[in-house]
Amino acid sequence: MSHNKRIAVYPGSFDPITNGHMDILIRASRLFDHVIILIAENGAKNSRFDVVARQKMIAEAISDAKLENVEVDVTSGLTVEYAKRIGANHLIRGLRAVTDFEYEFKLAAANSFIDPDIDMIFFMAKNDFDFISSSSILEMADGGVDVSSLVPKSVIKYLKK
Ligand code: COA
Repeated sequence: MSHNKRIAVYPGSFDPITNGHMDILIRASRLFDHVIILIAENGAKNSRFDVVARQKMIAEAISDAKLENVEVDVTSGLTVEYAKRIGANHLIRGLRAVTDFEYEFKLAAANSFIDPDIDMIFFMAKNDFDFISSSSILEMADGGVDVSSLVPKSVIKYLKK
């Protein structure tokens, strides 16, 4: 029997991290020995927060939630290459509505083309978080809506800046 640690990578743009992402992260941290939440660039998106700010918001959220087997990192390359480098065989993603499915299906296929040994694990988002996304939170916050129940405390500070 192997005693290798089970490591998973949870990639995303996290611009910014939301309570929906935190829910997936917490559930993944119960399943794996170690989870790396990885800030990766989605080339099709313009970001609001720079990588350093996104990393700080996530680090604080992890510490506030007392997730001791989780850490945050950043990559500018392919997610799969990062996972291979650190010995992780699984990538975590969350699924909200059916509309996420097609996108995730394609992402999983591309990742599996890059390395067939990497598997993706999907968690179904809880109903409460089904409607939120990073950009909808930014829009609401910009419009003066109180989003404090939708994002970790660490994000609120940055939204106010
Ligand atoms: N709760 C709330 N919102 C969620 C969510 C959840 N559980 N899961 C996803 N979302 C939202 C995000 O907030 C984000 O919203 P936005 O579009 O308004 O910003 C959206 O769903 C999807 O974002 P995210 O999960 O961060 O993924 P992404 O599509 O922005 O990024 C990467 C995907 C970064 C993982 C992918 O592009 C990647 O791996 N890039 C590196 C290069 C690479 O390896 N490419 C793969 C081969 S092509």
